[in-house]
Amino acid sequence: MTASAKDIVARAVEVLKENDHGAYTIPTKGLYPFQWNWDSCLTALGLAHYDEARAWTEIETLFAHQWPDGMVPHIVFHVWSDGYFPGPEVWRTGRPTATSGITQPAVAGFAVRRLFDRATDKVLAAERARALLPKIDAWHRWFYENRDPRGEGLVAIIHPWESGRDNSIDWDDAFERVPTEGVEPYTRRDILHADPAHRPTQAQYDRYLWLVQHFRGLGWDNARLHDASPFQVVDPGFNAILIRASADLADLAEELGETEIARANRARAKKGLAAMERLWSEAHGQYLCLDRITGKLVDGASVGGILPVFSAIPEARAAAIAASVERLAGKARHIVPSHDPDDPRFDAKRYWRGPVWLVVNYMIADGLLAAGHAEVARRITHSSLDLITESGFAEYYDPLTGEPLGGGRFTWTAAMVIEFLRGV
Ligand code: GLC
Repeated sequence: MTASAKDIVARAVEVLKENDHGAYTIPTKGLYPFQWNWDSCLTALGLAHYDEARAWTEIETLFAHQWPDGMVPHIVFHVWSDGYFPGPEVWRTGRPTATSGITQPAVAGFAVRRLFDRATDKVLAAERARALLPKIDAWHRWFYENRDPRGEGLVAIIHPWESGRDNSIDWDDAFERVPTEGVEPYTRRDILHADPAHRPTQAQYDRYLWLVQHFRGLGWDNARLHDASPFQVVDPGFNAILIRASADLADLAEELGETEIARANRARAKKGLAAMERLWSEAHGQYLCLDRITGKLVDGASVGGILPVFSAIPEARAAAIAASVERLAGKARHIVPSHDPDDPRFDAKRYWRGPVWLVVNYMIADGLLAAGHAEVARRITHSSLDLITESGFAEYYDPLTGEPLGGGRFTWTAAMVIEFLRGV
């Protein structure tokens, strides 16, 4: 590693340590004062760089709050804080430690396998991984039972926050069906910490809240929520993460002699991959979301349709996605923008409607590399590292100017930088 790379890693480690609360890491001070699901799993990879045992703890803490039905919530409210809305008093999920009532992308299986593969202490890793295996398996089973009730092989999200791409253009049309009548009065806290022009709009917030109240009214009973939700979207990126995590969990289970877990996850990944074909768009050279209520594909090129390269999609699909990323590089100074800049709805500064996010870059680059597109993967890595050098460890970045946006000193951004620097 060069001296400047070492210096960047040292700065990234500082960010991780600043946000470390002992057994879990918060995404950033102020804006996000609790534990977030996919943030933690990806952050564990960065933690492992200097403390393997601590990295395992990060994921174990998350899974200690898994619901009895298998769901792993998107937020665990370990301590009280009035800095974030909606807090436990809105979710009212009735869990021993307050949590939200929805989930997030299932990266845990991927992260655990990567931690295990790289572990220097294999005895410790085997012990910690073995304990997590049945829990992650139960989460995967939960997904297909509750979010794919007709056994199509693809799971739906029932709230945009589940996707991790909160205000993506992908949700706009489906969101029209979500009413806003009866939303209890509330005060947003996010816009106290970040510029409102970079955050979701008020109209979107009302709908986010309507869905939360609706699910709460159904007692957070996951057997009922999917069919009762006016918002059911099959996100290719979300499914690809689950498919990759299932395949990784299967490999790990096999290595640890857990043959039943291996078999079940292998079958899930296989069925999911076959079903993904339905989401392919030749015109866009990428996958598209499917609105499960209308049965129609959602027209629009978001990064959600590029992310599937993270899973073992057919070679020709991966090649088309590599070409799409190269096209995007011709339209934006920094890749990969969360939405195609040619789309009139693209917004370079508004959260998931245009900006670059390093976690997404990491997964896309990982998949492209595995599919044999090393050059495009390298471009993504370099673009990501340029952003850090120019603009620091921000939550997200303007793809046209590189301007840092949202929260600062951001945990998973720092973790991803450590990961990117391993490969250069
Ligand atoms: C925002 C992001 C989500 C992330 C969370 C915490 O809600 O959209 O993906 O998990 O912040 O960083």
